[in-house]
Amino acid sequence: MAEIRIRNTNERIQGEENVRAFLEGQEVLYEHWNPEQLPVELRNKFILSDEEKGQILATFDNEIRDLASRRGYLTWDIIALSDATPNLDELLKKFEQVHTHTEDEVRAITAGKGIFIIKGTDEVGYFDVELEAGDVISVPEHKPHFFTLMENRQIVAVRLFIETEGWIAHSYDDPSFQKAQA
Ligand SMILES: [Fe+2]
Repeated sequence: MAEIRIRNTNERIQGEENVRAFLEGQEVLYEHWNPEQLPVELRNKFILSDEEKGQILATFDNEIRDLASRRGYLTWDIIALSDATPNLDELLKKFEQVHTHTEDEVRAITAGKGIFIIKGTDEVGYFDVELEAGDVISVPEHKPHFFTLMENRQIVAVRLFIETEGWIAHSYDDPSFQKAQA
């Protein structure tokens, strides 16, 4: 289940209802899918064939189509990252820059872990959303954020798009943002 850490105060927010309420206040959508629908052999697999990716999308087809019909997404795919990904460190360096998009950024984690760092309201400042299998998040358009892996460096997620072009990152220079933990 997702957990929040507010960077300025180190406060942690846990429990589905608390997390959902906090994120709602920050205009971040949070939902949850049952990750146990996924066949056991795919729950801990981070190098995926096209067939296995198709199997994951088929497993969550109802959830994907429900989310897509409510929010207007037209295409979706699977992203898998792990130490087996070529140039993972370089890729993560590129990921770890605060940026915005003209489209929202939706991720439904199906295996592994990941973390969104998001710029909240002025009172809250930056906060981390730690995500695991079953967590579904949408960071709204124009909201500064970045996404990266956690210590285990493994994730599989469904991405949903309105238009893939709407998802191009625009960097957001924020001198007040400190990557290092307080
Ligand atoms: Fe992004």
